[in-house]
Amino acid sequence: MRISVSFGAAMASPFAVCRLKGRGILVKCLQKVDPFLHRNIGTDVVAARERHGCKSLYAVQAEGQEQAERSVLISCHSRTNEKKFLKYISRHGDIKKYFFYESYGLYAVVEFANRESVASLFEGAAIPSVSHESMVPFKSRLLSLRNIGLADSTNQQSGQQCQPQTPIPINELIQRLSKEESIDQQITSLTDVYQLTQENSRLRFLVCSLLKDIAAAYFPECTIKPFGSSVNGFGKLGCDLDMFLDLDGISGRNASMPKSGLSLEYQMKRASSERAVTQSILSVIGECVDQFGPGCVGVQKILNARCPLVRFAHQPSGFQCDLTANNRVAMKSTELLYLYGELDPRVRCLVFTVRCWARAHGITSSIPGAWITNFSLTVMLLFFLQRRSPPIIPTLDHLRDLAGPADKSVIEGNDCTFVSDFSKIQLQSNTETLEQLLCEFFEFYATFTFSRMSINIRKGKEQNKPEVAPLHIQNPFETSLNVSKNVNATQLDRFVALCQESSWLLQQSETNAPRGGNKEKASKPWGLATLLLPSQVAGIKSRKKRKREPASERIKSLLESLKNTNQQQKS
Ligand code: CTP
Ligand code: MG
Repeated sequence: MRISVSFGAAMASPFAVCRLKGRGILVKCLQKVDPFLHRNIGTDVVAARERHGCKSLYAVQAEGQEQAERSVLISCHSRTNEKKFLKYISRHGDIKKYFFYESYGLYAVVEFANRESVASLFEGAAIPSVSHESMVPFKSRLLSLRNIGLADSTNQQSGQQCQPQTPIPINELIQRLSKEESIDQQITSLTDVYQLTQENSRLRFLVCSLLKDIAAAYFPECTIKPFGSSVNGFGKLGCDLDMFLDLDGISGRNASMPKSGLSLEYQMKRASSERAVTQSILSVIGECVDQFGPGCVGVQKILNARCPLVRFAHQPSGFQCDLTANNRVAMKSTELLYLYGELDPRVRCLVFTVRCWARAHGITSSIPGAWITNFSLTVMLLFFLQRRSPPIIPTLDHLRDLAGPADKSVIEGNDCTFVSDFSKIQLQSNTETLEQLLCEFFEFYATFTFSRMSINIRKGKEQNKPEVAPLHIQNPFETSLNVSKNVNATQLDRFVALCQESSWLLQQSETNAPRGGNKEKASKPWGLATLLLPSQVAGIKSRKKRKREPASERIKSLLESLKNTNQQQKS
């Protein structure tokens, strides 16, 4: 899948501004190279969030939704002439932004300046007529550009303009990382390559908006919001699209009834439980998506899961989609992860690196099973960062203590309160490099007492395990739940062994010496690139043995010499 670079830079802000406490100096921290090295030297505490352009997740969601509602997705002929296309589309109104991408054909995302333009575009669009088939006459903002003479045009530059929307293959990544000059740069580079682009993120909001149009047939006031890695800052190109059907905005829910006099209320069907309501809503909308949703294929209704969902593939975008409803706690954990990722640039870099490393070694998988999930792995990394001395990120309890009255949130009896105002969060001064932290992460989990202890980011301290599961990670909000309940002992053992081997590998001079700059050796994997090679890490055991050989040789020769001395003394 390829996407054009017609507009926009990467989603992440190119620099951060930190205020050094007590001095009131604003220091521009260039994030791209070694962001944190520019921070806080010689200071005790750094005020956390004073970046220009910093947005809460709520603001990001609202902006993304609003843009998506003014946008359409158009399937184009591969030789569509960009200029003519734009001229034709702009007859319906000003185009604010657009881009092309490839997903089994060329697609264009067009964002109009005004919503009226979408209505105008609809007026001019026809329902296709085919003689041998019938169409479900469901009109959506997924359209096809028909050949009106544009297809023959030359001047198509999609070859140059489209860039991959899925991540580069692992071997290309390894080559690329091998050319960097430090492990810190390798980690930053991996994050740059893997993170969602602005275009990909817009496409995610647009797919949610297209889905909302289907659900709105039943619930006109609903919204569909992306959650999970699509918006928490840790999403890798190609990650699934988790969506949440939100019915909380339906008017009348919180209307206060007068104490006396006449009033009206809606008559509604009743169900035995909230779960039953969620299941029936998802069942009906899933059916609709299956029967009427353009581009939605392979629809599965998985309604008996702990969190009922509708799973399908959205072909035009290439996204694997999970639609849930009444899943507000997951929205909160998304918000929390987003906050942690924004507090310190090292958090995102390390999450991307550890996720990539785990995937390269089959520790995580896209297939559900007894594997550690990306979410569990992220929580483990956050916990590790809380355990640094001084800590890099605060505990969830601390974030709760900083919360104001407007932040109060209790969902199904779970306290989900934490501060939303980033500027209230004071970070301690920790200047460890990405390389140090990565190595320490492996060391930390290579020796963690998984048999007795639970990982707990609310307290920022390991707790006694409340149950016998091999790996226990307390759910940050539904505290009686174990996020990694699915993980079996074999998978945990594999993770621990891999941490041991990776930690050992990173400490070897033959691994961590930069090879960049040396033309001949430029593509020979080193540093992080070595860690991503399953064959390298698997080969450690034999190499460790080889390393031990000289020692055993030494002991052998020592014994030999003692024997000789004895014999000499005897004789
Ligand atoms: N979630 C949760 N508890 C779990 C699993 C998931 O609260 N036991 C929430 C988290 O907010 C998570 C989101 O649901 O981010 C989506 O879950 P999932 O798709 O499994 O993880 P992602 O973070 O989206 O990562 P990935 O890129 O692997 O999809
Ligand atoms: Mg996900």
